[in-house]
Amino acid sequence: MLTVKNLNSGYGKLQVLYDLNIEVPEKGLTVVVGPNGAGKTTLLCSIMNIATVFSGEITFGGEPLTGVVTHKLAQKGISYVPQMGNVFAELTVLDNLHMAGYMLSKAEANDKAAQMTEIFPVLKKFIHRLAGTLSGGERRMLAIAMGLMKNPKLMLLDELSTDLAPIIAERVMVEVARMRDELGITILMVEQMARRALEIGDTAYLLVSGEVRYSGQADSLLHEPELCSMYLGIKQTAGKGGSAKLSVSDEGSENS
Ligand SMILES: Nc1ncnc2c1ncn2[C@@H]1O[C@H](COP(=O)(O)OP(=O)(O)OP(=O)(O)O)[C@@H](O)[C@H]1O
Ligand SMILES: [Mg+2]
Repeated sequence: MLTVKNLNSGYGKLQVLYDLNIEVPEKGLTVVVGPNGAGKTTLLCSIMNIATVFSGEITFGGEPLTGVVTHKLAQKGISYVPQMGNVFAELTVLDNLHMAGYMLSKAEANDKAAQMTEIFPVLKKFIHRLAGTLSGGERRMLAIAMGLMKNPKLMLLDELSTDLAPIIAERVMVEVARMRDELGITILMVEQMARRALEIGDTAYLLVSGEVRYSGQADSLLHEPELCSMYLGIKQTAGKGGSAKLSVSDEGSENS
């Protein structure tokens, strides 16, 4: 559905991504992991035309995205939930939802907002609260709901688990898997909580210093002890019969 071919991109004259090739299949959950500064956010910014694309091609459903202005991408069915600053703190939850669904008619926006409160009951509870007073996890749920307000075909999610307690981050991950399984949305997710992301993901890319170091089945990356310990902070211990086993002490320590 989304294809990134030989992408070289960055900011101004600074090159961050080198010859990147990424394939995001329809209705799948594609995960991008890698250490801080690897270029994960830059990849999403390149797709959204926020970063500078030097060369290469990005296509969505066969149509080139390069050069399409950012706000037009929502009309094409792409929703981007940025790493930071993804809700309007001074607006209520309901107003945030309506703001995100600005391109819908009033009736459609009302329906869609109601649907969001069914999917995320926590939003229903706090519908008239200012978004700035929500907890980190609740705010992340709102940001996802805002992305869904646009009726996207493709969601780009940037490190939803940042700064969340492990149990709340886990809840957010469950919601992401549910979006794929129940709503059939295609997802490209960048995540620092690598182990969990690789468990729920279908395909995965490991990005290191702007280059792809692994591409393939998501859970198979968990069986690459060298890559896991070197780049993802996931240590493995040898299990019975020599099979690799994740160490329990790694829980919540995957941030590099
Ligand atoms: N707006 C910008 N202008 C110039 N350089 C930038 C800009 N944004 C990011 N960079 C640089 O690009 C490189 C990749 O950054 P990026 O944010 O893509 O990494 P990341 O993999 O998302 O890291 P993290 O896990 O910390 O979010 C870094 O060296 C960063 O300093
Ligand atoms: Mg980032």
